[in-house]
Amino acid sequence: MTATAPIPKFHVPAFLGERRGEGETADAVAIALKAAPGAIVSGERLCRSLGLTRTAIWKAVRQLRAEGYTIGASRRVGYRLAGEPDALLPRTIREGLGTRALGSGATCFRKTRSTNDAGLRLAELRAPEGWVVTADEQTGGKGRLGRSWYSPQGGGLWFSVILRPNLPVSGAQALTFLGAVSTAHAIRALYGVPVALKWPNDIVHGGKKLGGVLTELAAESDQIKHAVVGVGLNVNVARHGFPAAIRDTAASLRTIMRRNIPLVPLLRRILVEMDRRYAELVSRGNGAALVAEWRELTPMIGSIVRVSHFGHVREGTVAGVDPDGALLLRSPSGVVDRLLAGDVTILRR
Ligand code: BTN
Repeated sequence: MTATAPIPKFHVPAFLGERRGEGETADAVAIALKAAPGAIVSGERLCRSLGLTRTAIWKAVRQLRAEGYTIGASRRVGYRLAGEPDALLPRTIREGLGTRALGSGATCFRKTRSTNDAGLRLAELRAPEGWVVTADEQTGGKGRLGRSWYSPQGGGLWFSVILRPNLPVSGAQALTFLGAVSTAHAIRALYGVPVALKWPNDIVHGGKKLGGVLTELAAESDQIKHAVVGVGLNVNVARHGFPAAIRDTAASLRTIMRRNIPLVPLLRRILVEMDRRYAELVSRGNGAALVAEWRELTPMIGSIVRVSHFGHVREGTVAGVDPDGALLLRSPSGVVDRLLAGDVTILRR
C-alpha cells in the first residue's frame, strides 16, 4: 500500500454540513491495518508503532467501523481488517492517488446544500488548490442556467474541485471542458462505456444526459482568483429513481450497465485524469489541448442544431468550438456566430 500524505489542516465551517472520515488517528490505524492484509495486528503492536494508547486505538476502530470498515477485534489477540467501504472519505479518495494538485485534500459531507457552494466558501477561506469537496447527497444541487441538479443520497458523484489557475476569466469554459473530458475518459477507461460530450457541459450516452459540469469562479480584474469545477454524474440512480420530469432524458451508469458501480474508484480515476490535463492547461496557459480532446468526444461538429438562450433561439450548423470553448454556429446565410452559453438540441447529424 502507498503511504497517505498527511491531509492539510484546514478549518471547515460546521454549518456547511456533517463531515465524514476525518481524524489522524483513524487514518493511522486504517493504514496500519491495511499494511497487513488479512492478518491480525496485535493491539500492543499498534500502540507501539503508532505511539497511541489502547483507548485511542479502540476509538479509532469504532470510528472506522461507523464509516463502513469491517474490522474484526478480539481483546487479547488484536485487530484484523476484513473489508473497506465504498465510501467517499478523505482517506479513501486520497490514499496513494499520486496526483500533483487534484486531491491535495478533501472534505466529504454526508449532506450539504451544494458542493459548489461549499467549495466557493472553502476557497474564500484559502483552501489549497486541488481541494475536493464531495457529498453523498446535495439538498440544493445546482445545474447550469439556474436549474437544480437532482443529487440523491448515494446515487452518484456530486463533487467539486477548487482550482487557482493563472488564467483570464475567459478560461472558465476550458475548466468546464476539463471536468467533462476527464470524466468521459475515466468512464471509458474503467467501464468501456462510449460516453460522448455535448456543448457546453453535458456528458451524454444514447441521447440521454448522464452528467454535467458547473464551473463557478471569483475573479479579480480579468483574472480568475479561484474556480470551483463541480461535476455531477448519475451513477447508481435507477430509472424510476429519477423524478418524472427527467426520467426520459436522464441516464445513469446503472441504467446503462445494469449493475451498481462503486463510487470511490470512479472518483479517483476522474481526479487522476483531471490532474494531468490541469497541469497541461496551466503550463500552456490556454485550453487548446482540452478543446481538441473535447472535439474528439463530441458528435456535434457538422450537425444542425438549435441553440436557445433565455428566449433567443438560433439554428445553424456547428462549425466548431474556438480556443476559449465558445460554440461556432454557421447560420444558413453563412455567417458564423460565436455563442458563449445556451441549450443545444441536435436537429440533424
Ligand atoms: C448541468 O449540467 O447543469 C451542471 C450540473 C452540475 C452538477 C454538479 S453536482 C456537484 C456540483 N455541485 C452543484 O451544486 N452542482 C455541481
